Amino acid sequence: MSPVSPGGRPPVPPAVHPSGADRNKRECIGPARANKSSSWDARSTVRTVPDRPYTIVSCAVSVDGCLDDGSPERLILSGPEDLDEVDELRARADAILIGAGTIRADNPRLLVRDPARVAARERAGRPPHPLRVTLTTTGDIDPAARFFAGPGTPLVYAASAAVPAAKRNLGGAAVVIDAGAEPSVAAVLADLHSERLVATLLAEPGAIMARDLLAGNLADELRLAIAPFLVGDKTAPRFAMPAHYPQNPDAPMTLEDVRRLGDLVIIRYRIMRA
Ligand SMILES: NC(=O)c1ccc[n+]([C@@H]2O[C@H](COP(=O)([O-])OP(=O)(O)OC[C@H]3O[C@@H](n4cnc5c(N)ncnc54)[C@H](OP(=O)(O)O)[C@@H]3O)[C@@H](O)[C@H]2O)c1
Repeated sequence: MSPVSPGGRPPVPPAVHPSGADRNKRECIGPARANKSSSWDARSTVRTVPDRPYTIVSCAVSVDGCLDDGSPERLILSGPEDLDEVDELRARADAILIGAGTIRADNPRLLVRDPARVAARERAGRPPHPLRVTLTTTGDIDPAARFFAGPGTPLVYAASAAVPAAKRNLGGAAVVIDAGAEPSVAAVLADLHSERLVATLLAEPGAIMARDLLAGNLADELRLAIAPFLVGDKTAPRFAMPAHYPQNPDAPMTLEDVRRLGDLVIIRYRIMRA
């Protein structure tokens, strides 16, 4: 596992996986060389997944732990300094993961914003932007969403039942990957690592995906930006939905850094792999 950098700056992720863009065209989960009954089965538990990318979970929350409010408009929790730091994390990542719910709710582009960071990636022989990745059970994603606008072709991991509709719906806007009857985030991360050559993953998840990543012990770091207000809306999506979290009082995360960034507090925790 890669160490977390000291001193408050975003961590330096591990070296980029060797290139292999064609691998992203594969439309099923898991390695071609293994059979389906191996430990790569989509129903695998965390313990049977051999490896995964170095994964940072980044969320902005209100003081009362809300990721948004209950209104159709997106609640702004972040500030310019925080956005810039997240942009740096994006620039260092091989891929960015969100759940389909965040595409529907926020319609994010998930690109690196700073042209200097884009240029630095290209100078290093990397794609200008990280690979955009999502997961869906329903396949209910608008092909006009900015997630698909490019540059680059995103990956959509879909439950087997949703694959035909997702392919019809999305056309050539994405590579749709069959993630099995009951998709698991663990299997998606394992596939990203072994088959799409993703070494460093930034997750910018909503409520469900954040829960699955943390409860599944699939993250190496948690970065929380705390906005200086309370939402107080019982319909608002919340960070850390009820679940059995391995990061519990018996096995706490390691507090790596606490900083003020504009009006926000930034907290970074390191999480031990199981
Ligand atoms: N403040 C922040 O940092 C931040 C960041 C992101 C989002 N948000 C907010 O979070 C809210 C959206 O929350 P959300 O929970 O809907 O977002 P999400 O966790 O990003 O997406 C949830 C959706 O992802 C798919 N998914 C997640 N885990 C899955 C699994 N294990 N297997 C199969 N599919 C899986 C499902 O899509 P299908 O329904 O298509 O099956 C599920 O409904 C919005 O209000 C947004 O503004 C806040």
